Amino acid sequence: MNDDLLLDVRHLKAYFRSKQRTVKAVDDLSFTLKKGEILGLVGESGCGKSTTTKALLRLIGNQRKEYLEGEAFFEGEDLIKKSDKQMQKIRGNKIGFIAQNPMSSLNPVFTIGNQIAEVPQMHQRAAKNKAWSIALKMLQKVGISDHETRAKQYAHQFSGGMKQRAVIAMALAGNPSLLIADEPTTALDVTIQAQILDLMVKLRDETQAGVLLITHDLGVVAEVCDRVAVMYAGKIVEQAPVDELFHHPQHPYTKGLLASMPKIGSRKKLIPISGHPPNLYEMQGGCLFQERCPFAFDRCKNVEPPLHKIAENHQSACHLSSERMNSF
Ligand SMILES: Nc1ncnc2c1ncn2[C@@H]1O[C@H](COP(=O)(O)OP(=O)(O)OP(=O)(O)O)[C@@H](O)[C@H]1O
Ligand SMILES: [Mg+2]
Repeated sequence: MNDDLLLDVRHLKAYFRSKQRTVKAVDDLSFTLKKGEILGLVGESGCGKSTTTKALLRLIGNQRKEYLEGEAFFEGEDLIKKSDKQMQKIRGNKIGFIAQNPMSSLNPVFTIGNQIAEVPQMHQRAAKNKAWSIALKMLQKVGISDHETRAKQYAHQFSGGMKQRAVIAMALAGNPSLLIADEPTTALDVTIQAQILDLMVKLRDETQAGVLLITHDLGVVAEVCDRVAVMYAGKIVEQAPVDELFHHPQHPYTKGLLASMPKIGSRKKLIPISGHPPNLYEMQGGCLFQERCPFAFDRCKNVEPPLHKIAENHQSACHLSSERMNSF
């Protein structure tokens, strides 16, 4: 195994089943994350970003209404094969998780300080006093003022942005080697957002943790990520180092995302991507983006384009980019 490799996800599938239909929320996803790397996972609402995080954390399993398949090697061991008990030890300890909805991670009947202190107490067997001082330090780090008083308060006494920061403090308190952050700054104003992003970069610099950062904000990606994977309808359609993706996007969907992003100093008209993503339960054959793609041609209707190598570390799932490569 490559020593730098922290997470190696192979052919991950996560479906939701009901009597009427199966929603293929994550469909054959493969990507890697190195130690000390920040990988951005971007894509429109409903494309399967949160489901990817839940599958990796095994918050989705193989049950009557859920289906999980594939491999996800974390520090060389397959998370998908771990028992629930083993996963309980990994979650919150080696893998820190910032959920998209902060309230789902906070317990209303315990103080915020106690909930953060529980992480080092449970996972690092820290004594109560030590755990409490770690909790205070973490609250301070995420920019909560008057943190000693705030630590003794409950979730309902926190504003939305403060709750989000408390959840971030909780995720970082375990000193994780992998941080999975699902839209961690969406509810925050720009100054706090900058502090939080800074904190994640610092964590990476200090501990060489890998970060999987889910966001729909390409500005955030440009600022902090090393590499980016673009998701569309449950699949990765393009991945590349950040500079390469922003300067040489290949997939029409990525180009569309970039064209709809405002740029400081530019008065260029923003061009939205027309149409809607396909239903994840009645997907047609061929390329999933074909109906919205201005460049679609016959082959796109029948043959699903696999991820092709465009350049070193750059892959795109589009027949056009593969044709261009073949013509060289
Ligand atoms: N528990 C569930 N049961 C059934 N379908 C679900 C469930 N959770 C998610 N889905 C469906 O899976 C698809 C992907 O959802 P997911 O939450 O992963 O999207 P997302 O990319 O995180 O979107 P957003 O940017 O809005 O957070 C959606 O079609 C959603 O309706
Ligand atoms: Mg989500």
